[in-house]
Amino acid sequence: MRREQVPDRNIAMELVRTTEAASLAAARWMGRGDKNASDQAAVDAMRLMLDTVSMDGVIVIGEGEKDEAPMLYNGERVGNGRGPQVDVAVDPIDGTRLLSMGRPGALSVVAVAPRGTMFNPNDLFYMEKIAVGPAARGAIDLSAPVAWNIQQVAKAKDMAVEEITVVILDRDRNTEIVDQVRAAGARISFITDGDVAGAVAAATPSRGIDMLLGIGGSPEGVITACALKAMGGDMQGRMWARDENDRQLAEQRGIDLKRVLTIDDLVSSDDVFFAATGITTGDLLRGVEYEPGGATSESLVMRSRSGTIRRIDTQHRWGKLQQITGERYVAEQRA
Ligand code: FBP
Repeated sequence: MRREQVPDRNIAMELVRTTEAASLAAARWMGRGDKNASDQAAVDAMRLMLDTVSMDGVIVIGEGEKDEAPMLYNGERVGNGRGPQVDVAVDPIDGTRLLSMGRPGALSVVAVAPRGTMFNPNDLFYMEKIAVGPAARGAIDLSAPVAWNIQQVAKAKDMAVEEITVVILDRDRNTEIVDQVRAAGARISFITDGDVAGAVAAATPSRGIDMLLGIGGSPEGVITACALKAMGGDMQGRMWARDENDRQLAEQRGIDLKRVLTIDDLVSSDDVFFAATGITTGDLLRGVEYEPGGATSESLVMRSRSGTIRRIDTQHRWGKLQQITGERYVAEQRA
């Protein structure tokens, strides 16, 4: 007889309040050319809300080491300490530059998985990535040539190679990959920042993106793996060294620069939670829009075990928030 289980808590429903808070606070800095101030605003707001989440969390992917990051540093305890023991990955703003320059596509993200299940890239900042949606799951191999991967994705999606769109971070270090995509005959959508959103868009129907390729941030790689697990997509990564210094660091940390990390290496659990809220309007999410007395936001909320993906439109009312939370919460948002 099949045993029925009552669905348990979905932490992502609580996590979305942390990305909403970060986005509302950060969006005030749109186009103002001050990356540090926007980052500070997002970090403060997210930090405040994280402690309302019922979990015993440790930040694995955060703002950096404790001496450089006073809050949301790697190793910091977050949550109210009463729920499950979890690893937490945060990026209060993915696309700080986009936000400060008033460009589309900045968002706030957080991911949670059981303790000890997230890959720790240490202080090696870059990772080569390949990411696809559910239709091309199992069809990719980072150790194979770019053209082979594009053909595999085209085959899995029953499309022509010429119809495949690859999203790539516009960086010099990606020139070789760009050349190979061009030689293969696929299309390219260049992004100046924000490869978490790029990968999530590749896994979202009707966004006109089929895969993500290229070298981007390694913390973002782990966060992307969490999102793609929840979406049923696929991803592989390989740590990338900028220079001799990075190569030595990798050796000291026991990180193999040749090893292809599968999505399960990047996050080994199948019980992953992910939330993201738009800051500036992009292909994936609408940004924060201010209006008299409040603001609206759009978020994605996902959980891998149930496979549920929610889009949440939220109306925030400053006056009411102030009544229930006092000055502090609203002050963070309106700083
Ligand atoms: P942050 O806004 O969190 O700094 O990241 C933006 C981003 O574009 C990521 O999406 C990407 O993975 C990384 O930076 C690429 O790093 P770099 O800008 O050094 O090439």
